[in-house]
Amino acid sequence: MIIAGSDSSGGAGIQADIKTVSSLGSYAMTAITAITSQNTNGVHSIFNVSPAEISKQIEFTSKDIKPDVVKVGMLSNTNVIKTVIKSLSKIKVKKIILDPVMVAKGGTRLIDKKSVKILREKFIKKVTLITPNIPEAEILTNQKITSKEDMINAGKKLLKFGAKNVLIKGGHLKSKVVYDILLEKNKIYIFKNEKIKSKYTHGTGCTLSSAIATYYSCGKSLKRSCEIGIKYVNQAINNAPKFGKGHGPINHLNSIEIKKKFR
Ligand SMILES: Nc1ncnc2c1ncn2[C@@H]1O[C@H](COP(=O)(O)OP(=O)(O)OP(=O)(O)O)[C@@H](O)[C@H]1O
Ligand SMILES: [Mg+2]
Repeated sequence: MIIAGSDSSGGAGIQADIKTVSSLGSYAMTAITAITSQNTNGVHSIFNVSPAEISKQIEFTSKDIKPDVVKVGMLSNTNVIKTVIKSLSKIKVKKIILDPVMVAKGGTRLIDKKSVKILREKFIKKVTLITPNIPEAEILTNQKITSKEDMINAGKKLLKFGAKNVLIKGGHLKSKVVYDILLEKNKIYIFKNEKIKSKYTHGTGCTLSSAIATYYSCGKSLKRSCEIGIKYVNQAINNAPKFGKGHGPINHLNSIEIKKKFR
């Protein structure tokens, strides 16, 4: 089950999540938290779904089909976060991946300041894995991140705040390679990959957390789920359809072979 916002341009948010989960052979249910109007150049507007309606989507859907894993993306305000925490405790799913979406690729802030506090103090303890990008890790830890070492320190700080496992995503760091760093209680894994020169990276974060959630739901370890989730995103960037004038989408369906007759 994916709890996240809709991206009208189709490249990120719930649209990216459904495509990712489906292309990896799994089944996606959804609870939509917000409807954004956006294109590859930026976000135009955000309409928040009411907390009551969000909890109904989560609880009613799960009553019928129990999710193997829940991935949480954009939660715009404190009421929404509190509601989601409550509904998650009711449906009793053990595997929860939280992508603490705060800022869109174009720079639009997607969450208010009070929400950051609740995420940090109430929510991160309750999830299996939290996957902040560098700006989000900076906001959550209140420290600057400009190197691999800073990423590790921020990750350790988040573990101290009560997170069980942390993946700090390195797409935003200025370097020739991308370091994605997974911190478990007593272990640190560094995934190093070449940085692909591309403006088609819209939705990489949503896609990665959904890929990790899918692999993890099938019983793979967190480390392996992160490792192959990152590979999947890399392939999706390399096969981007080159749409849009701004940060265009990646190709979520690159794991599915499209038969010639449909081309
Ligand atoms: N240019 C790139 N080259 C290689 N890998 C990339 C690149 N950009 C992103 N990635 C991969 O995608 C992952 C997620 O990207 P990023 O760190 O930008 O997350 P994000 O900021 O949450 O994305 P989003 O804007 O979708 O929210 C990275 O951890 C990295 O593995
Ligand atoms: Mg993100």
